[in-house]
Amino acid sequence: MTQTSREEKKAKVIEVLNKARAMELHAIGQYMNQHYALDDMDFGELAAQMKLIAIDEMRHAEMFAERVKELGGEPTTEPADNVERGQAVDVIFGFDTELEDGALAEYNAFLAVCLACGDSLSAKLFDDVIDEEQAHYNYFDNVAGHIKTLGAAFLAQKAGTSSATGLNTQGFVARKAAPPTPA
Ligand SMILES: [Fe+2]
Ligand SMILES: [Fe+2]
Repeated sequence: MTQTSREEKKAKVIEVLNKARAMELHAIGQYMNQHYALDDMDFGELAAQMKLIAIDEMRHAEMFAERVKELGGEPTTEPADNVERGQAVDVIFGFDTELEDGALAEYNAFLAVCLACGDSLSAKLFDDVIDEEQAHYNYFDNVAGHIKTLGAAFLAQKAGTSSATGLNTQGFVARKAAPPTPA
């Protein structure tokens, strides 16, 4: 393999890592905005889960940036899209399901690019992140489904619940994966 083609392959991987990082930066802003909105609407538990998912996306943004740096690139600071503001509670979860679905499709395509360029570490990174986006998708899709079928009855259960996430806040996936704390 010539030096040029190695460099070209590296540049392609850096490009998809940065595209993914831009999507993460967008998701962070979007979910933080929804976290505050849900808290204002007093759906504490929904707000808390949204905050934890935003924290997962922050970790993803860092992981993509670290890999970009390792490959000699410059991590992007530009989000892929603008944050939608003022969404109603029955809009938020369907919107986020779509966002995660888009990320799953894109990241699978990016993983294939990494493999084609012979970069198994970057491919593994996408593989790990895809697992977490799937967990986000499942959660958003569940909540969107409950709001659609149960509507006010479901939301009444969430009204007035606590939005506390505790100290040393872990993300949504890390928290789910943690073993139960002993009594
Ligand atoms: Fe993410
Ligand atoms: Fe996600």
